[in-house]
Amino acid sequence: MRTLSGIQPSGTPHLGNYFGAIKQHVEVSRSLKQGDSAFFFIADYHALTTTHDAAKLRHQVRDVASTYVALGLDTDAAVLFRQSDVPEVTELMWLLSTVTGMGLLERAHSYKDKTARGLHASVGLFTYPILMAADIVAYDSDVVPVGEDQKQHIEMAQDMVAHFHSAYGVDVLRRPEPRLSPTPKIPGNDGHKMSKSYNNTIAIFAEGKDLKKQVNAIVTDSREPAEPKEPDTLNVFAILSLFLGDDEQSEWAARLRQGGVGYGDIKKEIMARMDARFGDARVRYRHLMTTDDGARELEGMLARGAARARAVARSTLARCYDAVGLDSAAARLRGA
Ligand code: ADP
Ligand code: TRP
Repeated sequence: MRTLSGIQPSGTPHLGNYFGAIKQHVEVSRSLKQGDSAFFFIADYHALTTTHDAAKLRHQVRDVASTYVALGLDTDAAVLFRQSDVPEVTELMWLLSTVTGMGLLERAHSYKDKTARGLHASVGLFTYPILMAADIVAYDSDVVPVGEDQKQHIEMAQDMVAHFHSAYGVDVLRRPEPRLSPTPKIPGNDGHKMSKSYNNTIAIFAEGKDLKKQVNAIVTDSREPAEPKEPDTLNVFAILSLFLGDDEQSEWAARLRQGGVGYGDIKKEIMARMDARFGDARVRYRHLMTTDDGARELEGMLARGAARARAVARSTLARCYDAVGLDSAAARLRGA
């Protein structure tokens, strides 16, 4: 079975990315069984739909790569690569786009949300799900672990696979399935979905004053510590719960219902848990982000990943060119 997922380098990775996606990715990479494989990539082509700043994009690509590596992704067992190092996905995207109806794309929640928030509706933003489908099918992916917001895109990829097969009467692509984490929708400090584009995030590797500022920005009401509170209604408790085991969660919930726990206490505990969970990874992250050695280490890993990924994508694309009747394109990919 093959697992694949991607993350856009569109800002500093946050707790939503971690608990919704990256945590699972790291676990998969560290527990691969014989015959299983895993591919994770930095979706830099996709980021161009929202970022038109070259220096910022370079920085953010490094940020996502450093985050994965610092959090312990096993880059020998799993393949970590940059989307744009496998340009064949854009060729595959073209083939898929010719069997994809406008109606399918018009139903995309993510496109509707982004344009409703005032993002310029470029053609690239509209066809974003086709590139994402190409990413998925290029690597013969079976399972795609993502947060809830991405589920519809994977269902769209399933539809595109079906359309391609029915258009050409041959089955050449694998149908992917989404897999949600146990915490697929992490709230941000304002209670809405945590997202780089909503300015409501807590960065995985924030520390010291920055961390304090981000955690203190979690919106609460003005009730005093002594007042009893219903834990399930508290955004700040939902965020703390990400770090708690079942028993600890029940204990905290009971204390909140009883009264005597203030929002400040919960925020302090969030910071302590983040220090404990991410403290060691932070040191590694800083090394990868700020030193020349770190940059070289990342580039080496990404180059190895790209070579492994590219071989798979070329073979899938060659099969597709055979199916559609573009024989010289197929031959080019097979090195003939
Ligand atoms: P963002 O919305 O911050 O730009 P991305 O779109 O880059 O995040 O998402 C990267 C991964 O993290 C995806 O699998 C996505 O589903 C997941 N993810 C993002 N935000 C959340 C969240 N608030 N809760 C759960 N998962 C999330
Ligand atoms: N759209 C995804 C996101 O914003 C990133 C992504 C691009 C992706 N291609 C993918 C995720 C393929 C899973 C599979 O998070």
